[in-house]
Amino acid sequence: MTWRRSGRWEDVAKIPFLDLTAATAAYQSEIDEAVLRVVRSGRFVLGPEVEAFETEWAQAVGVAHAVGVGNGLDALTLALRALGVGSGDEVLVPANTYIATWLAVTQCGAVPVPVEPDSTHQMDPAALHAAVTPRTRAVIPVHLYGLPVEMERILAVARRHGLAVLEDAAQAHGARRDGVRAGGWGDAAAWSFYPGKNLGALGDGGAVTTNDPAVAERVRLLRSYGSPRRYVHDVKGANSRLDEVQAAALRVKLRYLEEANERRRSVAGRYLSGLANLEDLGLSLPPVPEDAEPVWHLFVVRHPRRDALQERLTAAGVETLVHYPCPPHLQAAYADLGWDRGSLPYSEQLAEEILSLPMGPHLSDEQVEQVIAAVREAVLTLAVAVPQQARGAVAQQARGAVAQQARAAVPQEARGAVAPRLSVVR
Ligand SMILES: Cc1ncc(COP(=O)(O)O)c(C=O)c1O
Repeated sequence: MTWRRSGRWEDVAKIPFLDLTAATAAYQSEIDEAVLRVVRSGRFVLGPEVEAFETEWAQAVGVAHAVGVGNGLDALTLALRALGVGSGDEVLVPANTYIATWLAVTQCGAVPVPVEPDSTHQMDPAALHAAVTPRTRAVIPVHLYGLPVEMERILAVARRHGLAVLEDAAQAHGARRDGVRAGGWGDAAAWSFYPGKNLGALGDGGAVTTNDPAVAERVRLLRSYGSPRRYVHDVKGANSRLDEVQAAALRVKLRYLEEANERRRSVAGRYLSGLANLEDLGLSLPPVPEDAEPVWHLFVVRHPRRDALQERLTAAGVETLVHYPCPPHLQAAYADLGWDRGSLPYSEQLAEEILSLPMGPHLSDEQVEQVIAAVREAVLTLAVAVPQQARGAVAQQARGAVAQQARAAVPQEARGAVAPRLSVVR
């Protein structure tokens, strides 16, 4: 790849944001065998594979019970119902999360009450305390991007006000903080096994984990028509069962989860050192608290000219995404709650500035270096292009660096990477 005077990267190697085929290529035959085993067994829903996976997943999380369900949204919804959340209750949720966290609350007939994040992009315990009212029944901290929330402070607020705590761990399979694994703090945790997650199935899947046998039992009932046995219906349940094919594939992928997370950590480490010292030029890197062991579901940077940065990266063959470009309170779906633009300013600003770089075990070291080179070049160029933006002093110095950066060779091996597979990315 070369930088032309015309101001374009040419002969650009494509770096996909995510490539699920490459990520599992090393053990594809084990997945094939597992799927075939189910196909030949004649047992397709809630069978021995689901039971075995539930045992193995509970063990991996370090809790007593896991209950497989149809997807992450259902895991959240059914867990809230099992924790007693219902009509008229308020549930505290992050303002900056995927909309599923809010939808689960709504589906229980309760009202989501947004809480602004702190500088780690996670739910701010101080803001949480301020949002509690007499109707508050529960709180859902989300381990966003794979970084566990500072749960001790969240739990302290929850205990003081008697709130149930449901961890949304959809992005945090295997993450730890202060030695505790995600899913190990709350009354229950909800997991998504959507294909793009750190532990992803071959389709939709989810689970609720808990140490409370009553909560586990209740979710078991709710996931299957509220039916303890055939044609007996104790409560108005749902149909949200994990199927045997998903469970069998998840059992294989669970064996490789640690390895895949380790690879993500290595990619994140390279990004963190390769993109260091660009703060003055506007690029902020994801914060990593000292006691946290994130699993880097996403690697999210910030830049005041995010859209321009994204455009330049696209031109350089680097696929990026935004998680998420519009917070739930500004979506049409939640217009009825009356949270206008400006009401949650920090989340709104984040939505305009964040950008997710390619992340996953599919990335080679060469591809990571190529991303780093492209980001550095783009950030430096943007600083030169907008000298009046208080970055004028560094812009001068940046000009020379841009030229040098643009000349930097991109490894030959990084060329010809596979095409993006956008459809599986959330
Ligand atoms: C934070 C968060 N919560 C919940 C969900 C919902 O999971 P699913 O897509 O499996 O319903 C997701 C997945 O996109 C998520 O990222």
